[in-house]
Amino acid sequence: MEEKGAENGVAAMAAIWQGVDPAAYLQNTYTPPLADLERKDNLLPWVLACLHRAFTEGDVSGELLVDIGSGPTLYQVMSGCEVFNKVLLTDFLEVNRKELRSWLQDEGSCSMDWTPYLQHVCKLEGRQPSAWTEKAAKLRQVIMDIVHVDVHRPQPLALDVLPAAGADCLVSCYCLESASPDLAAFTRALGHIGRLLRPGGHLLLVGTLGMSYYFGAPGVKIPTVPVNEAQVCASLKESGYTLIRLEVYTLPEYMKVSHHDASGIFFVKAIKE
Ligand SMILES: C[S@@+](CC[C@H](N)C(=O)[O-])C[C@H]1O[C@@H](n2cnc3c(N)ncnc32)[C@H](O)[C@@H]1O
Repeated sequence: MEEKGAENGVAAMAAIWQGVDPAAYLQNTYTPPLADLERKDNLLPWVLACLHRAFTEGDVSGELLVDIGSGPTLYQVMSGCEVFNKVLLTDFLEVNRKELRSWLQDEGSCSMDWTPYLQHVCKLEGRQPSAWTEKAAKLRQVIMDIVHVDVHRPQPLALDVLPAAGADCLVSCYCLESASPDLAAFTRALGHIGRLLRPGGHLLLVGTLGMSYYFGAPGVKIPTVPVNEAQVCASLKESGYTLIRLEVYTLPEYMKVSHHDASGIFFVKAIKE
């Protein structure tokens, strides 16, 4: 009975996500005031700096980086593409995978211009912003595939996608809490994606704090799990990760817009036991 309820909750979330269009999502989420690379106090420079630091501290290494729930976005792998020879992008929705493929194939039909993001990450790396073309080429070179993922399945990726040893590192931004109907599903999903990671591999997780809904596009209200820091730490522990650090960004008033009710964002660096 309980199992059936959990399945229904997950199926309801999947149905809601089907209504999200990548162009509308990018417009809603990756334009000011939520995303503003010109403002030092904005969330996006904070997330990019967290990722840059995590990937360049020296402990994250290997061959394969997997991004879980990439959506139609690429900012989350712009630092990691300098460390890993292979990057696998994944999403639940074919429309998002198609959007990523159109960037990868440089078709000119992308809904988003990633140039300012590439330039910003180049600056974090101590390079000239003009090096963005090299970073874009590097990213296109290392992305090995863009595949379907479902974090609610015990085996989230098709069986033949990963090498037997698993991935060396996972990155996942705003996916688990916005794809899960409740905290139990969020924790289970953390465990499911952990199976893709080799022991000693790293998890870099970005998510919202205290958010109960989010408009993925105008008129598409997505109920989300309003987690707090203690719950994120407990879920990580329960799912077999050791926390290295958790950082919190508190949303400034100007970012508290009507299409979400988040209070902050967390960044986690953890290691699989
Ligand atoms: C809030 S978006 C985040 C996208 C991107 N990572 C970003 O940083 O903007 C959540 C993503 O989770 C994906 N998603 C929804 N249900 C999922 C599931 N069951 N398994 C994996 N991903 C899912 C959606 O397609 C969407 O791209």
